[in-house]
Amino acid sequence: MAVKTILTEPNKILRKISLPVKKVGKEEQLLMDDMLDTMYDAKGIGLAAIQIGIPKRIIVMDLSKDNENNNPMYFVNPVIKNKNQNLSKYEEGCLSVPNQFVEVNRPSSCEVEYLDYNGKKRNLNCDGLLATCIQHEMDHLEGITILTYVSNLKRSMIIKKLSKVNNNEDKVVL
Ligand code: NI
Repeated sequence: MAVKTILTEPNKILRKISLPVKKVGKEEQLLMDDMLDTMYDAKGIGLAAIQIGIPKRIIVMDLSKDNENNNPMYFVNPVIKNKNQNLSKYEEGCLSVPNQFVEVNRPSSCEVEYLDYNGKKRNLNCDGLLATCIQHEMDHLEGITILTYVSNLKRSMIIKKLSKVNNNEDKVVL
């Protein structure tokens, strides 16, 4: 298990469309373990494989609260079967868009079909934060981040800010 580097906007790898997993084997399970470590380390609640540079349709999430036990969730090849017509709005953040929050409207509930950590086919009805989170992560599989949902002006401002942060990477503050 290992903590990997999370790619941030405007890294072009984040635009890649992730490919379906043929079989959930040891390699995929190790990837999911690393993704979970990386997500916990960054204090996120969801992570798609492409965020650590691997274009596979794999997502990990954990929506448990601080005072609860960890509840890792694994989604391989997720597909949305049904979406509610009603939308709900959340201020969404993203580990690939650090320190920025964007209001996004998404279907308030949905049904997701996927393979679990052991490659078993499953169905999950999602609502509330779970529905928002799975849809956010599934956007990553299509090369979409929350910056897709903001105006061109706001996007340029955020990218400028994030690029500046990246350029400062070799400076250390002690
Ligand atoms: Ni994200």
